[in-house]
Amino acid sequence: MADALILPIGLVTAGLVAARLGVLTIAAWQQATYRREQDRLTLEVMRERIAEAKKRRNENALAWNGLRKFVVKRKVLEAEGICSFYLVAHDRKPLPPFKPGQYLTFRLSIPGRDKPVIRCYSLSDSPRTDQYRVSIKRVGSPPDQPTAPPGLVSNYFHEQLSEGDILDVQAPRGHFFLDVEQERPVVLIAGGVGVTPLLSMVNAVVATRTQRDVLFFYGVRNSREHAFKDTLQEIVSHHSNIRLVVAYSNPQPEDERNEGRDFHHSGRVDIRLIKSYLDSTNYQFYICGPPAMMETLNKQLLRWGVAEHDIHTEAFGPATVSKAFASPQAPQSARASDSAATAISITFAKSGKTCSWSPSAGNLLDLAEAHGVRIDSGCRAGNCGTCVVAVKSGKIQYVTEHGAELEEGTCLTCIAAPEGNIVLDA
Ligand SMILES: Cc1cc2nc3c(=O)[nH]c(=O)nc-3n(C[C@H](O)[C@H](O)[C@H](O)COP(=O)(O)OP(=O)(O)OC[C@H]3O[C@@H](n4cnc5c(N)ncnc54)[C@H](O)[C@@H]3O)c2cc1C
Ligand code: FES
Repeated sequence: MADALILPIGLVTAGLVAARLGVLTIAAWQQATYRREQDRLTLEVMRERIAEAKKRRNENALAWNGLRKFVVKRKVLEAEGICSFYLVAHDRKPLPPFKPGQYLTFRLSIPGRDKPVIRCYSLSDSPRTDQYRVSIKRVGSPPDQPTAPPGLVSNYFHEQLSEGDILDVQAPRGHFFLDVEQERPVVLIAGGVGVTPLLSMVNAVVATRTQRDVLFFYGVRNSREHAFKDTLQEIVSHHSNIRLVVAYSNPQPEDERNEGRDFHHSGRVDIRLIKSYLDSTNYQFYICGPPAMMETLNKQLLRWGVAEHDIHTEAFGPATVSKAFASPQAPQSARASDSAATAISITFAKSGKTCSWSPSAGNLLDLAEAHGVRIDSGCRAGNCGTCVVAVKSGKIQYVTEHGAELEEGTCLTCIAAPEGNIVLDA
């Protein structure tokens, strides 16, 4: 009887041992596969990091400090009063790539001026190593001051510069750029010549060959000022992920027959138009245009529920910066009421002047100029670094992010507001 049980028990035991061995073998095999996969992923990440580091090293090797000489290779009229300038390095060495949306800073010696003049212009094409392009609108006298001199540098570019001329240029910089590594859908909103950095962004999306959704709103007065019409139409005709909505604020009689083809709406690019094309607020917004348009849209997008960090704006001039003192993002001191802030005193040590500051006085550069204190300026938007002065005592805050590099203890007066009493070395 006992003998009869030995065989089945033996078989069961052997089976159990075999099953156990099988389980252990499978587990060991799974572990080995898992470890191999982990090693492969680690190696892949390391390779990517090395490639990224090499890429950055090459880019840094191509970038330059200070000024580099560029030759105007080509000058092309894009629309009434807007000209593109194609620039190649005078030393013919490759150019560093830039981030789409960044700008170049020019230092120009203009006949009749005792000092060089500085201005920033956005790069309007996607990054290339052989040439850069900027597109410049000729600025006239302000409508309410027709006898004032027209824009100095924009007119110099249009009237005085020819192909073959040489310019001094700083390396590309700026915080207003599109991260092309991301896939999130993006809304680009351009007003007039503010199209330049956004054109660079859409060109960069095309160059990356991704399917990232782009909705491009472009507001211009009419067909005469409609720069880059063919370029943009060509892009949307070949890329179903990119949509273009053009609005003419003041269409001319000759434009009427082209409604639906060259432009889609009469009127401005406003929040109603934008909402009518979007199914949610889950987009990144990039806006560049006249100060009034940017301020209104910024507020309306926030009110609609767009996250603040998803709204990016670029100011082309000082007006936006001055108005920023009234915005919710402005520093605490700047938001204080004028009467409460009159206690803030600013001393310009070199000039021996002390005056009181309130938000209506604008930034520290405006205040200095209003009191006859000379501080050189260029972009008046925190980008070129010309208006830098040392802060001898006290604290300042910026109303907007600055593009210019800064040393400890200095401040860019064109975008600075005081936090309390301060002494500036000016
Ligand atoms: C980051 C950045 C990117 C930019 N990108 C671009 C771009 O891609 N394309 C582009 O076209 N612009 C761009 N700009 C704007 C550009 O830098 C200049 O501000 C613009 O070209 C005007 O410069 P200007 O020298 O011609 O005019 P300014 O000489 O600075 O004059 C500006 C205005 O002031 C008026 N004015 C001058 N003197 C007086 C006076 N005494 N009294 C009353 N009014 C006066 C002029 O008539 C003019 O209307 C950008 C700016 C920044 C900061
Ligand atoms: S004037 Fe250019 S940073 Fe202030």
